[in-house]
Amino acid sequence: MKIAPSILSADISNLGRDVKRVEQAGADYLHIDVMDGNFVPNLSFGANVVQRLRGQSDLTFDVHLMVEHPEKWISEFAAAGADIIGVHYEATPHIHRALRMIHEAGKKAELVICPGTSVAMITDLLSDVDQVLVMTVDPGFGGQHFLPSMTHKIKQLAEIKAQEGFAFEIEVDGGINDQTIAQCKQAGATIAVAGSFVYNHETPAIQIQKLKAV
Ligand code: DX5
Ligand code: ZN
Repeated sequence: MKIAPSILSADISNLGRDVKRVEQAGADYLHIDVMDGNFVPNLSFGANVVQRLRGQSDLTFDVHLMVEHPEKWISEFAAAGADIIGVHYEATPHIHRALRMIHEAGKKAELVICPGTSVAMITDLLSDVDQVLVMTVDPGFGGQHFLPSMTHKIKQLAEIKAQEGFAFEIEVDGGINDQTIAQCKQAGATIAVAGSFVYNHETPAIQIQKLKAV
């Protein structure tokens, strides 16, 4: 599986160093969690952080927008250097427009679903996305426990993908460690986000190797 370390759990006072560490350790993507204090009960990074990191890293930037009305922010994050932009199904009544705006900005469009949203709600959108992110915790914080009941959604998405011949990636986010990643891989996930498992350890490279070995 591709591994996307989440900088939410990095040492923010040494962010550049912590990004380099995972890049040198073979991370595939860099997951950047953007929180607005409304859609989720927390605040994190703005587009200026993406822009500064862009100058220091060649990793694919996977920007997870946990913000209400993401349409307002897409162009700013695209200009800052995001490669993939994720928008929540729950964050706007006009989700298809948001996905289209991401493509119009020349970026990969990712559709994200919270634990309370079923795959049935997004089937009509699957032909128009590059990536689906299945949240395996309610978003807002790092270090939460993986919800095993979410794995059936990964299976459903993998089935639809095979049946319809779609090429979207299936990503998981929340509570991923060297145990829970195995269930996700088996169900059909292709990318795993990991924050605390990677960064709450003195050697992130070892943690990335553990995830890649599953
Ligand atoms: C949660 C974020 C996650 C978070 C994952 O709202 O979307 O990306 O950083 O952290 P862990 O891996 O610690 O659950
Ligand atoms: Zn995330």
